[in-house]
Amino acid sequence: MESNRREFIKQATTASAGVGLVSIIPSTVWASKPAPSDKINVALVGCHNMGFGDLSQSLGFSEVNCVALCDVDETVLNEKAGVVREKFNQNPKLYKDFRKMLEQKDIDAVFIGTPDHWHCLIAVACIEAGKDVYVEKPMANSIEECNIMVRAASKHKQIVQVGQQQRSGFIFKKAMELIKTGNIGTLRKINIWANFEYGIGPQIVPDSSVPDGVDYDMWLGPAPQTPFNKNRFHGSWRHFWNYGGGLASDWGVHLVDMGLWAKDIITAPEKVLTYAANTFPEKRARDTFDTMTICYPKNDFVINYDLTAGLQRGPWDMLYGIAFIGDNATIVTDRSKLTVYPETDNKTKKFKAEEYKFTEGKDSHNQHVRNFIDCIKSRQTPVCPPEIGRAAAMHVHIANIAGRVNEPLLLWDDAKNKFTNCEAANRLVTPEYRKPWTLPKY
Ligand SMILES: NC(=O)c1ccc[n+]([C@@H]2O[C@H](COP(=O)([O-])OP(=O)(O)OC[C@H]3O[C@@H](n4cnc5c(N)ncnc54)[C@H](O)[C@@H]3O)[C@@H](O)[C@H]2O)c1
Repeated sequence: MESNRREFIKQATTASAGVGLVSIIPSTVWASKPAPSDKINVALVGCHNMGFGDLSQSLGFSEVNCVALCDVDETVLNEKAGVVREKFNQNPKLYKDFRKMLEQKDIDAVFIGTPDHWHCLIAVACIEAGKDVYVEKPMANSIEECNIMVRAASKHKQIVQVGQQQRSGFIFKKAMELIKTGNIGTLRKINIWANFEYGIGPQIVPDSSVPDGVDYDMWLGPAPQTPFNKNRFHGSWRHFWNYGGGLASDWGVHLVDMGLWAKDIITAPEKVLTYAANTFPEKRARDTFDTMTICYPKNDFVINYDLTAGLQRGPWDMLYGIAFIGDNATIVTDRSKLTVYPETDNKTKKFKAEEYKFTEGKDSHNQHVRNFIDCIKSRQTPVCPPEIGRAAAMHVHIANIAGRVNEPLLLWDDAKNKFTNCEAANRLVTPEYRKPWTLPKY
């Protein structure tokens, strides 16, 4: 199945890749590599939450050493260094500036767990330094940054895994198997929803002084100079366009990715229809939308993505999930369970597909990190290379852009890397970096 997937990707990208983007995802990359028996030395940039989760997964594998940690918040850095020492018996060097960290020669691979607005700069710097990279999702905070990362990874032939760990999930692999072997008949529609409470953002609080030990200028990096506010800092930065894309991209990139995988789509959408609004009655600390309905019409099926932030329930009594709707059955999934609901034949009164239930018993996130470590050694393409990360990110970024420029229908020309019906949308394709930071040239 894996080799089929790669073969498909090769063909699909050759046929439809945009100008300037790599035309082929190779199944093997060639940059220098540690011998299979060797230890893999990893580093982490951005230690507060998810990045540390990724690192911890990797340290569960006997061949992985943690040789460096980097964070702009000294408190986070020291606390996580303590955990690495006590729990994993490793003694990483500590940094507040990733550029200094990259001077450390023994690092093979870097996990990037910073807010989204930093992903591109740090990933490209790592790639240029000859490191393999596990970059959290969404791959980047803008369309052009995604393009740059695809090109940089391809040019320097480093392994890059995007943290869309559902690609390694038993549940979703099972869903894909059922869909692709025809068990649910013709797949006609994919309904996706995500209704998380946190998506409305925190209560508004005034700006304040920068906490001790935080290099706030380095936290902002390429983003505009803005006074410190704890709502725009650890965790809740994701509700502000300068750093993230709100619930639409935070969960959307995972869930829409599953919709794309069902039909092996690894290209940007050509057409996106978006309703985006703020309907939650209270004003919260947030730029991003709390209410969105997004439609991705494809040639022979449709993906719908619906979010109502602030709710903790949704369709099928699940706060988030995916319904893959086929002629013969509907598969309903989240990360922990999968259920097949068969249709009934009107004449025979028999089910058109087999009933099926599956509950996740293993840790899929661990599998995604395992795949990254394996690919560092084998130089094989990981399960979520930059091209796949880009496709998922493009789908959610375009919907957010539609909402921001108030243009419900956006038409995207991937070869020209532009919207063909909206100039205002084109102005949001490439972020303006704050000096001295500049967008990497690829
Ligand atoms: N795959 C998943 O399921 C999943 C889940 C949660 C978050 N994420 C992703 O992980 C990333 C991090 O999210 P989070 O919730 O952990 O954020 P967070 O705010 O909790 O942590 C980010 C950390 O990065 C540090 N940081 C910021 N700029 C830095 C820089 N220039 N150099 C070094 N450190 C820097 C911050 O100080 C902080 O410690 C995001 O891209 C997010 O979308 C993925």
